[in-house]
Amino acid sequence: MTSYNELGEVYEWLISDAKLGPVEFAASFDDVLGLLPSDAHVLDCSCGTGQLAVGLAGRGMEVVATDASDVMIRRAQELALEFEARVRTLRAAWEELPDHFDDGTFDVVFCVGNSLHHAEGAGGRLAALDSMARLLRRGGRLVLTSRTWERVRAKGSRLDIGDRLVRRNGRDAVVIYRWEIAPGWEDEHHIEIAIAQLDGGGSVIVRSELLSCWPYRYNELAAELRQVGLRAEMSTFNLEAENYTVAASKV
Ligand SMILES: C[S@@+](CC[C@H](N)C(=O)[O-])C[C@H]1O[C@@H](n2cnc3c(N)ncnc32)[C@H](O)[C@@H]1O
Repeated sequence: MTSYNELGEVYEWLISDAKLGPVEFAASFDDVLGLLPSDAHVLDCSCGTGQLAVGLAGRGMEVVATDASDVMIRRAQELALEFEARVRTLRAAWEELPDHFDDGTFDVVFCVGNSLHHAEGAGGRLAALDSMARLLRRGGRLVLTSRTWERVRAKGSRLDIGDRLVRRNGRDAVVIYRWEIAPGWEDEHHIEIAIAQLDGGGSVIVRSELLSCWPYRYNELAAELRQVGLRAEMSTFNLEAENYTVAASKV
């Protein structure tokens, strides 16, 4: 079960230094954002703690931030308050989005930061992508980032223990990923993430969560995008890289 309600409380330890600030997070999408009017209607449909949504609102865009996790939504609201950013937030899973927004509402939908693999199998992924595509206006773009699952699966089950302490809010932590790679691509996989915070007195406080995920090959994703009426315009897919970005426009 993937709730992110436990990890949501300590999620900043999982965000890289380079993307921790809303301005910097949004700037990592400058290529795509440069093509948009400054008052574009944007949806971040797995907003996490809200860095991207708040960064986009800071550029003058009209931003909606949604996520399936209550804790993530609360944290995104807190970040928006802190930065005095106008962001509408809503707790909704991808497949629930069409209940809340008319078709064709948004110029861009973002689904970034290793989120889509939480959709349950090929059926769940197609339903999620279909929801995102419906909410785009014709010519609007879906911007998606993904782990390169071809690489992740090739490495097999393992324990990755961070080789540097991560410091956030004045506290250091070790970040640990336990990868449970199932035999078949279509099987449920697991990633257990633990954030082991060190307090000054020598105690270690651990927050962890077991996340379910369903990997996909790049070619499958490309076919699924076409199936929901999106045409890939840009892709950084490369088997040598950990992650890739795809931008696809609604035909
Ligand atoms: C790895 S986090 C990425 C968060 C953020 N986009 C970022 O880049 O920091 C994955 C996010 O996907 C959300 N998520 C998982 N399943 C979801 C679903 N079915 N519908 C909407 N959001 C979902 C989680 O709650 C979590 O906030």
